[in-house]
Amino acid sequence: MELDKYDQALLNGEYGETKQKMMEILLALGKIYEAEKFIEVKSVQVSGASFKTIGDAGLSWLNTLSGKAVVPSFLNPIGMPRDEWQNLGIPDDFAKKQLEVNAAYARLGIRLTCTCTPYYFNIIERGDHLAWSESSAVSYVNSVLGARTNREGGPSALAAALTGKTPYYGLHIVKNRVPQIDFHIDDPAATKSWTNAHYGALGIIAGAISGNRIPFFTDIRPNRDMLKSLGAAMAASGAVALYHVNEITPETRFPFFKKHIEEDDREVVEIEVAEIEELFGSLEADVIALGCPHLSEEELEELASLLESRRVVMPFYIFAAEELRAKHPDLCNKILSSGAKIVPDTCMVVSPLMDKAGVVMTNSGKAFTYLPGMCKATPLLGTLEECVRAGCGE
Ligand code: F3S
Repeated sequence: MELDKYDQALLNGEYGETKQKMMEILLALGKIYEAEKFIEVKSVQVSGASFKTIGDAGLSWLNTLSGKAVVPSFLNPIGMPRDEWQNLGIPDDFAKKQLEVNAAYARLGIRLTCTCTPYYFNIIERGDHLAWSESSAVSYVNSVLGARTNREGGPSALAAALTGKTPYYGLHIVKNRVPQIDFHIDDPAATKSWTNAHYGALGIIAGAISGNRIPFFTDIRPNRDMLKSLGAAMAASGAVALYHVNEITPETRFPFFKKHIEEDDREVVEIEVAEIEELFGSLEADVIALGCPHLSEEELEELASLLESRRVVMPFYIFAAEELRAKHPDLCNKILSSGAKIVPDTCMVVSPLMDKAGVVMTNSGKAFTYLPGMCKATPLLGTLEECVRAGCGE
């Protein structure tokens, strides 16, 4: 690989042992993927933040590292809220370990944003090179915002944070971003009434078929929250890091892409509306869990309006970034007066809150996919309105 002076100095250990090791990780990755050089990244998002997912081995590794991030670097959701975790019944031994994980990342200069939606609070522009690792965030910035990142692992994202560099391969290169599989819907008119949950269901099916290919959708007109839901689910049921929706996502408007869309041979798959509807179950919920990925402003507003003058009759958790919660105290108060809990910094999958919780009703295709394996819970998919009604015993 071609190395500049800074790359070489990192590898020589001139910036310390940790950064040397980090550069070695990036160099090994670059060689595997035959990258010709390293590029600078504008920001990094680091996953592997919950003690539930990294355990003692991950924490010990973090504690061996030193040095500071050299580009803005955001932390994924951790295993509990930074404050008020005592009120949620988080076990003390778990909390102690999680606090150690938080301290390790803070020491490395990673901002404790604790959200999978840092794109709501930071400017991400089309064409920006990033090194992000949470799969739904990767999908969103690539597909909806037109930035460029591979789906980094926790260690390679951390290495990018501490060096500011990533190997130039995969989705950083425009020619690798063109569609590889086409999806059609058998009854496009039916999609006009679809909610975020329907797009999550579509994502569950399309992601499993796509694997790590780049899907291209026609026939659908999702808004940004629906795109978030679709991408998150495809990244969970498959390994989709980028997708395109004709005339909706930014890259489909460029001549280069239009040419590929028209000329390339691709597998074409038709998904039936009936398959989407079959994913909506009819079990009785024990718990309601919303906010996977973390809520947008629009979703918070919608929830506040649905829960206003209602009362929840079962545990009802809403996951959002602390930054969103702090920005909207009035909306949050409306929600809290229903008895629902707004839980910042963590989520239904990476915290112990849903572990063995019985039937967990959600409007998220990603949570629906992960709840059984990660939490040993039975998932139930419903629209936001259905989740609110069920949670209020209606
Ligand atoms: Fe975010 Fe947790 Fe879902 S990290 S995408 S809320 S599984």
